[in-house]
Amino acid sequence: MTLPAAAAGRFTFPGTGIRVNRMGYGAMQLAGPHVFGPPKDRDEALAVLKEAVSLGIDHIDTSDFYGPYVTNELIHEALAPYPGNLVLVTKIGGYRNDRGDWLLAHDENFLRRSVQDNLDRLTLERIEIVNLRMEGPDDDIAPPMRVMRAMQEEGLIGHIGISTITPQQLQIARDIAPLVCVQNHYNLVHRQDDAMIDELADAGIAYVPYFPLGGFSPMQSAGLNEVAAEMNASPQQVALAWLLARSPNILVIPGTSRRSHLRQNIEAAALGFTPDQRRRLDSLSG
Ligand SMILES: NC(=O)c1ccc[n+]([C@@H]2O[C@H](COP(=O)([O-])OP(=O)(O)OC[C@H]3O[C@@H](n4cnc5c(N)ncnc54)[C@H](OP(=O)(O)O)[C@@H]3O)[C@@H](O)[C@H]2O)c1
Repeated sequence: MTLPAAAAGRFTFPGTGIRVNRMGYGAMQLAGPHVFGPPKDRDEALAVLKEAVSLGIDHIDTSDFYGPYVTNELIHEALAPYPGNLVLVTKIGGYRNDRGDWLLAHDENFLRRSVQDNLDRLTLERIEIVNLRMEGPDDDIAPPMRVMRAMQEEGLIGHIGISTITPQQLQIARDIAPLVCVQNHYNLVHRQDDAMIDELADAGIAYVPYFPLGGFSPMQSAGLNEVAAEMNASPQQVALAWLLARSPNILVIPGTSRRSHLRQNIEAAALGFTPDQRRRLDSLSG
């Protein structure tokens, strides 16, 4: 049976044999307001996760930053024992303090403890893909990448991704270990990474844009609204379909706390553009 998320097509992470639908789900929005504390509606959060899987989502992005710990606990409660095809991708390199501030930490002990925390909360023996979250262009990615590589060799991590990185950091990271994905801020109106996406596509590495719908600042674009109205679709659906059309190595992980939005987002996997619509969307760069 073909499930709706499969309409986005499939992607194999390089050198892994791990195949996922290009339409995935980002769990960050399941935590409470400002991604801090418990969900507004716990039953709905659990239902979103279950419905995502039932609609064919087999790639869920998460982190212990979210809550903290909230999304991993919800994923475990809703989905364990996990379907064999489900790929849970987590990220490490940061934490939240009591006030909800987002803080970065990259020392070896911290990274190792973070992997262990994810394994414990998700009840896994190994996490297939772990992203190392960086913060700024001046962060030295080499030392934490060497720790990631060591944890991979020890079998705690299956494969490595990196997040919030510059082209220079990407190059340094690729010289230390094979990467399977990069997660950076990118969407229809925020396209700083165009060249990086093409470089990664040539290498078969996934590019997983965060804030595909604008994140905390919903995307505003008259041109997007115009195309959406013509297609009888929502602007969010068109923004996701544009990402899927942009490059075959883009995997989308829109975040939502509601089943109604989840269904709409997954329906975007089946949308196609006329050449004119595609050209107008391509020219919207903000
Ligand atoms: N690597 C990193 O540093 C990093 C940073 C940020 C995010 N991420 C990951 O990327 C994922 C995606 O980013 P995101 O969740 O921050 O932002 P996003 O997907 O761009 O947008 C989420 C927002 O859009 C709303 N929304 C979702 N579907 C909608 C629809 N069909 N119609 C109208 N509104 C809709 C959500 O509200 P409702 O809940 O009301 O639907 C939420 O406010 C996250 O979940 C997380 O897993 C990673």
